[in-house]
Amino acid sequence: MHHHRCTRLHTEALACTGAGPSTEIVILSEAQRSRRTCILLLLLPLPLLLPLPLLLPLPLLLLLLLLLPLPLPLPLPLPLPLPLPLLLLLPYAFAFAFAFAFAFAFAFAFAFAFAVAVAFAVAFVVAFASEVGAGFSPDTLSRQQKGLQPLGLSSSNTPPAKLRPMPPIQTIAVLGAGTMGNGIAHVAARSGLHVLLYDIDQPALDRALATIHKNLVREVAKEKLTQQQADEAHSRIAPHTNISHLAAADLAIEAATERLEIKSALFRNLDHILRPEVILATNTSSISITKLAAQTRRPTQVIGMHFFNPVPVMQLVEIIRGLQTSQPTFDAVHALALQLGKTPVEVNDAAGFVSNRVLMPLINEAIYAVMEGVATPEAVDKVFQLGMAHPMGPLTLADFIGLDVCLDIMRVLEQGIGDPKYRPCPLLIRMVDAGWLGRKSGRGFYTYA
Ligand SMILES: NC(=O)c1ccc[n+]([C@@H]2O[C@H](COP(=O)([O-])OP(=O)(O)OC[C@H]3O[C@@H](n4cnc5c(N)ncnc54)[C@H](O)[C@@H]3O)[C@@H](O)[C@H]2O)c1
Repeated sequence: MHHHRCTRLHTEALACTGAGPSTEIVILSEAQRSRRTCILLLLLPLPLLLPLPLLLPLPLLLLLLLLLPLPLPLPLPLPLPLPLPLLLLLPYAFAFAFAFAFAFAFAFAFAFAFAVAVAFAVAFVVAFASEVGAGFSPDTLSRQQKGLQPLGLSSSNTPPAKLRPMPPIQTIAVLGAGTMGNGIAHVAARSGLHVLLYDIDQPALDRALATIHKNLVREVAKEKLTQQQADEAHSRIAPHTNISHLAAADLAIEAATERLEIKSALFRNLDHILRPEVILATNTSSISITKLAAQTRRPTQVIGMHFFNPVPVMQLVEIIRGLQTSQPTFDAVHALALQLGKTPVEVNDAAGFVSNRVLMPLINEAIYAVMEGVATPEAVDKVFQLGMAHPMGPLTLADFIGLDVCLDIMRVLEQGIGDPKYRPCPLLIRMVDAGWLGRKSGRGFYTYA
């Protein structure tokens, strides 16, 4: 019965989320747990068998009672100490006393065994409720199935968390000191957290510290911060090129290059370096949180924390639950986003999340309009600025994001969702091939000095 349910859950989980083989392993281990439950149930009446050995002397006793009436050819001591009828009754009295003693002993042993069985059952029920039952009671099972619907956003869709208490977050590790990493380090330090900023590339770290300094100076000039607050924020950021120096972190946010193999290796490393209760968040724009979680031994503590560029300015953080992300992890990261002065929005783990799922096809379609001669880039952008009150048009935005990044994300949507409507526009592919990547390369839909 349990196994059947588990198989259904497993199939639905894979169908709805596209989860990989490592997810399969985790869910099968739930099936093993339910099998263990069945075995425990079968063992439950065993203590009741404990008094059975006491029944072994019973046939002997019956034999003794049968033999008693037979005349014993014993020499009788004369004169007799008691009258003969009393003397004849004596063996019966002994036999009945023995039988009573035996019955009492048996009843006592049976009561003891019954108490052991009850204790065993209570222990089993407690264990079932706290461990197995949380995952497989009919109630939680139906909640899990509900949560696995493609659009299910219910916070109750998370599997039972067997988490250690979340540590207070005072020090965060930020991995990757590029555009996003330096912004995340900036807002974290500004909100009073200590930041261990890590990159494999020393020049990238130097550039990040210079950018943070420049942005803090700008915030002082705009009177968003006092000089002292800016100095303190800057002093809270410690750059590192050795990943083992991140061991003291209470939470990690990974913002390294958007490549699955780079992020997977980082997550495996972090899992070994950071304390077991520490949450690992990723700023990925498109990689599956569930897939990254499967690289670790703490998948319930892996979550997406998707910031927007420029991080010190943009208000939004998409918080993305992987298939196994626990509620305490979600709550801790939600609270952290608020502490950083951001507005968190809850999203499920699906290609492109919400932001890129909707934005990138818009940009892609704008590029089709240019390619097919519907309008010039300037005209397309003006339509969106003046007609839809967008602060910048989709092609200016594409240049700002980077056309290579836009192309990568379109490919993730195309593969992840499997609908041909997400195929990247041929003009976008040709521009990336030409090295016209937007602002960062000096040329995209516009030219930059
Ligand atoms: N740029 C955006 O607008 C934007 C917005 C939201 C999310 N993101 C996501 O944020 C992440 C970072 O993007 P970015 O724009 O800051 O990229 P970036 O290229 O500016 O910076 C990436 C940094 O990661 C470093 N890095 C590479 N491999 C590393 C490793 N193994 N360990 C540590 N550091 C490593 C690089 O040296 C570089 O400094 C990506 O996952 C991206 O999808 C980007």
